[in-house]
Amino acid sequence: MHVTVRDLARFKQEGRKFVMLTAYDHLTAGILDEADVPVILVGDSLAQVMLGYETTLPVTMDEMLHHTKAVARGAGRAMVVADMPFGSYQTSLDEGFASAVRFLKEGGAQAVKLEGAQVELTHRLVDHGIPVMAHLGLTPQSVHALGGYRVQGRSREAADRLASDARSMAKAGAFSLVLEAIPAPVAAEITRSLAIPTIGIGAGGGCDAQVLVITDLLGLGSGKAPKFVKQYANLRSTAVDAVTQFTNEVQTGSFPDDSHIYR
Ligand code: KIV
Repeated sequence: MHVTVRDLARFKQEGRKFVMLTAYDHLTAGILDEADVPVILVGDSLAQVMLGYETTLPVTMDEMLHHTKAVARGAGRAMVVADMPFGSYQTSLDEGFASAVRFLKEGGAQAVKLEGAQVELTHRLVDHGIPVMAHLGLTPQSVHALGGYRVQGRSREAADRLASDARSMAKAGAFSLVLEAIPAPVAAEITRSLAIPTIGIGAGGGCDAQVLVITDLLGLGSGKAPKFVKQYANLRSTAVDAVTQFTNEVQTGSFPDDSHIYR
């Protein structure tokens, strides 16, 4: 049985912190499952992390579905949440509903994530049994409207708007809320005010849970990571070293040796 929305609600009631991590493939989903990660997000960060796009905007439904299916096949226990890509839910409620259905029906996800205060769509999805994770603060699909990847909710007015959107999304039935790049005291205040768990990224330790992009945590990326990222390993340099050693051994003739050949 997968982790459910009821499990996450219980974690919040018990004051038990939890984590969510992104995965984009079967292999990584298996690793996260083995490490007992309760929630795996097939983030639309797929666009930048795996597909080489500059922003999350170009990633398509078909690309997201392809990767969600692979993750769902690798996640035996974790709840799989699929990110609704830009353009798949903003045009009409019907289109949003149809896109969400595809993630559960074809993709094998147990929930979807929506950016912004999508109150009406959340009502509709929840009414039809589709769990919704909300996402407020820095919402990367709005990067052009926000004028870049900047911290949100700094002024009292902006913080109040965030808190009000958070309450509206919880009232509409969202089972959890991602808070991205907002001042820690603002996130803590929102977290205290809600019965659903908040999942922070660049939002401080007052949230009920934390999420990171898996390649940031493992040190697999090449660029400079944002301030809120903590790198727990340096797998990129380990991989480069291993490949370089392989190349050297092939060039010098020390690989394959006797132990790696058939007789
Ligand atoms: O797409 C993503 O990876 C996300 C997380 C960073 C929350 O939305």
